[in-house]
Amino acid sequence: MQQERLDAIRLGVRSAGPVRRDRVDEALHRLQWNESPYDFPADLKEEALRRLASLPWSRYPLSGRPWPLIDALAARFRLSPEQVVVSEGSSDLIRAVMAATLQPGDSVVMPTPTFMLYRLNAHLYEGSGVQVPLDATSGFCLPVEALAEAARKHNARLVALCAPNNPTGTRYAEADLRRLAASIPSLLVIDEAYAEFCDQNLTGLLELGNVILLRTFSKFYAMAGARVGYALAAPTLAAELQKVVTVFPLSVFSETVALVALEHHERFLAMRDRVVAERERLAAALAQLPGVIVYPSATNFLLVAVNGRKQALLEHLRDRRRVQISDVAAYPELAHCVRISVGTPEQNDLVIQGFTEMFGE
Ligand SMILES: Cc1ncc(COP(=O)(O)O)c(C=O)c1O
Repeated sequence: MQQERLDAIRLGVRSAGPVRRDRVDEALHRLQWNESPYDFPADLKEEALRRLASLPWSRYPLSGRPWPLIDALAARFRLSPEQVVVSEGSSDLIRAVMAATLQPGDSVVMPTPTFMLYRLNAHLYEGSGVQVPLDATSGFCLPVEALAEAARKHNARLVALCAPNNPTGTRYAEADLRRLAASIPSLLVIDEAYAEFCDQNLTGLLELGNVILLRTFSKFYAMAGARVGYALAAPTLAAELQKVVTVFPLSVFSETVALVALEHHERFLAMRDRVVAERERLAAALAQLPGVIVYPSATNFLLVAVNGRKQALLEHLRDRRRVQISDVAAYPELAHCVRISVGTPEQNDLVIQGFTEMFGE
């Protein structure tokens, strides 16, 4: 057999952990990945399938980027199409931003804990992650000065954060984000994966010129399986990102579903309102239990501190209530916490029941 030439693989890739063959247990209620508890509406699925039936599947899409979807997103945000970049999930746009910006050794400043793909992608491109801790005792608020100071000290190429933050659920004020963007020498990537759950729209920050907003169809539009995400930025920045997105980034299936979703935006607002109402009900019920701390959430999930009983709780919920929640194992500073996606009312009742069996007096 020929010698494997692993030295041809870049160091950041070789030293990253392997991709494991994990599979979720579909028999469980899946409340670990912040997905929509409600599926994409059946009549809208039919509408998408009807449109797909009349498209040629043998052909590439009509152009190398999904311009009809780009135009529809630009119209929704009152931006120009030159400010919109679309790809297969915001995960891919995180990769694209790192690919477009990082040289080995460049610093990427980020709060911690924040979405682990930032750390992982910086590592792949041999960037150096500089982590600025969030403080649980002050509600995980945005440490504007500490982030700006770290960016200046390390001459950072990027500052990256999620607003609201995953996994803490914290909402950041637009004024704080503006102050941060204005006081750093680098780009600021703001991942707005959950923005619709707190009605935040940060497009006003794009005028600063150094801000890239990332958004996704996975959460609000109940389309995690369809894989569509987008970036919004100043036209010159977006033009550069457009070059690092793969040619034909969306299948005709994904683009069609995303267009149908945008045309029926108000249907998803109603679904969002149900999720937010359930989030508040779930949070209030869990917060009553002794030893349980529920952090305020502006998202479709809750971060909950469970006072040293995490393993037992995870097993109890899985084995007795058939519910899978997240152990947030990727975030060492949250060793005492779990993260729960807001489910349907019935699923949330199972969570409340399981917690009450563990923590109730
Ligand atoms: C903050 C954040 N960004 C991005 C993503 C990935 O989204 P997508 O499905 O668009 O790749 C997630 C998914 O959970 C997330 O929490």
